[in-house]
Amino acid sequence: MELKKVFENNKKWINSKLSKDSEFFKELGKGQNPELLYIGCSDSRVTAEDLMGLGPGEVFVHRNIANMVISIDLNVMSVVNYAVDHLKVNHVVVCGHYSCGGVKAAMQSADLGILNPWLRNIRDVYRIHKAELDAIENEDEKYNRLVELNVQEQCVNLIKTASIQKAYRDRNLQVHGWVFDISSGKLIDLNIDLEEVLKNIMGIYHLD
Ligand code: CO
Repeated sequence: MELKKVFENNKKWINSKLSKDSEFFKELGKGQNPELLYIGCSDSRVTAEDLMGLGPGEVFVHRNIANMVISIDLNVMSVVNYAVDHLKVNHVVVCGHYSCGGVKAAMQSADLGILNPWLRNIRDVYRIHKAELDAIENEDEKYNRLVELNVQEQCVNLIKTASIQKAYRDRNLQVHGWVFDISSGKLIDLNIDLEEVLKNIMGIYHLD
């Protein structure tokens, strides 16, 4: 790819925005007030704003390998804290995707160096849901189900944080688990019943 092309594209993008709204960038410069925090995978095929049809200013975005919410990752924890406590978003989404290389790697026996501790969090998701996953004979179906269960467990990880617990109590903030199906372009709401998932374990994680 010619990087020159990126800057040419940028000029076209500016013109297209200004042709619809001459004040677009002036308004954008005033600040942001997004209602949604999106935590997705870094995979180049899974864009954030583009697949949701949202533009600048509408969504606060964090992406990492396999859309993980790890309690000692200062990066994701800072993003969650800032979005929830300061930007006051009302919706937090964990969006996984089928054909996720991170999830696939966690299903295999391979030493991947620095990726090992990151991917071990997905192996732990497998361990928690081993009975369900082992019962699925078709490898692709098992893989897709692990993608979904990983999203569910990352939603649970969000709910373990004090920021989310406080915002849930004070303004009914909602946590959602979605999956993007690369092969069809479809965004799927997993409709995870998090109250049901946490029914017997919330007491362990309650902070606020
Ligand atoms: Co991925």
